[in-house]
Amino acid sequence: MKSLDTIDFGQAVKEQRKQLSLPLSRLSSRLKVTKGYLSRLESGKAVPSLTMVKKLSKILKLDSTKLGILAGYLPSDVEKILYANPVTAPAFLRETFGDYYIQGHTMKQNCQEESVSIAHKTRYELEQSDCFRWLDERKSNSIHAIVTDPPYGLKEYTATEKAKLRNGNGGVWRIPPKLDGYERQPLPRFTVLNQEEKNELKRFFLDWAQKAYKVLVPGGHIFIATNPLLSHIVYEAIEKAGFEKRGEIIRLVQTLRGGDRPKNAHKEFSDVTVMPRSCWEPWGLFRKPCEGRVQDNLRKWKTGGLRRVSNDQPFCDVIKSSPTRTSEREIAPHPSLKPQAFMRQIVRAALPLGQGVILDPFMGAGSTIAAACAIGYRSIGVESDPEFYRVAVKAIPQLAVLKTTNGNSVSIPELPIESQEELFVLR
Ligand SMILES: C[S@@+](CC[C@H](N)C(=O)[O-])C[C@H]1O[C@@H](n2cnc3c(N)ncnc32)[C@H](O)[C@@H]1O
Repeated sequence: MKSLDTIDFGQAVKEQRKQLSLPLSRLSSRLKVTKGYLSRLESGKAVPSLTMVKKLSKILKLDSTKLGILAGYLPSDVEKILYANPVTAPAFLRETFGDYYIQGHTMKQNCQEESVSIAHKTRYELEQSDCFRWLDERKSNSIHAIVTDPPYGLKEYTATEKAKLRNGNGGVWRIPPKLDGYERQPLPRFTVLNQEEKNELKRFFLDWAQKAYKVLVPGGHIFIATNPLLSHIVYEAIEKAGFEKRGEIIRLVQTLRGGDRPKNAHKEFSDVTVMPRSCWEPWGLFRKPCEGRVQDNLRKWKTGGLRRVSNDQPFCDVIKSSPTRTSEREIAPHPSLKPQAFMRQIVRAALPLGQGVILDPFMGAGSTIAAACAIGYRSIGVESDPEFYRVAVKAIPQLAVLKTTNGNSVSIPELPIESQEELFVLR
């Protein structure tokens, strides 16, 4: 059966009739209809019956289901799904198959406006493993994008510090006092990195980026969360591994970092701020070099660019965001959980054609994987900590079906009561 190049029923019939060198008069006599009726079908002025669609597909050697869909007859199971989920099912279909499948037609796609309540059970794989080992064992050129938020303070996620966090004993984690009746999330204490620790950070990211380079296909992107105090170290290491820097995504969010007066001298220097109050979070954007031109790479590897927000809106590098909502934290208790509203925007952009596999090698409680599920992308999450891994297994399906508002329409809060942003001070 020939596949159709158009999604217009009349045009599909006409083009195929001409391909088969079948005059209107001959086809009309085989169908036992008038030439005028056939001509009206071809120009979209008449609607065929299902029997007529079947007859036409047989004579013209076209797939009867596809031709039926063009004529407005959906398979009954699809019709039932659409009927039962009039809001979520079309969004899910658009996100899964995308407008690039439909030549000549464009659809607005903005998954942030709607929740997708269909469980994507087979769309993700989770691994409890050290990602360095996992990356070593993974086949070359088998991942299409990496979206991740690594433990860039390094200290915070060591076994000793995690044990202290879980026991509520402090260490680098501090448990903030209740504020206005709200229980606040634990925050890492100001982490003081000396030169040797900064060198260690560089080695960590160089090693990691070299392994990531191997598994990513040419043109594959990395979106990596960092912070303004450490980003230069992380970025230098990633570039050294062979990646091209392609920009930086600015997540506009107020954290509790900076903005304070000199410690123990705040009255004496009441007009002084030691560091700016942080109102943004940088996400480094890198790409493994393409094979040839971007268009060649897109054809061969399905990567090389970023997916547009819609036909008339490219993906932009400043995204308004909020701290992660309490409802998400309750589902996925992890001290560094990222919000779905933001994650869905960057995860969506990471696959320009919506095809391929997203990897989060530092999965935490699975916000990247949940975002990929909500959009309908395949993904893999790797987490070394058994407790966070268990949280992710449970949380991902619940996070994936949450309704989110479009991050761009969310205003920046005055002073977030809760924030699990990590706090760093460099010597
Ligand atoms: C900053 S958190 C990521 C949180 C995540 N963005 C979320 O929304 O839940 C980093 C995670 O990486 C994990 N991790 C640290 N080293 C790892 C390694 N070598 N392999 C895999 N996971 C690791 C930590 O246990 C932690 O859960």
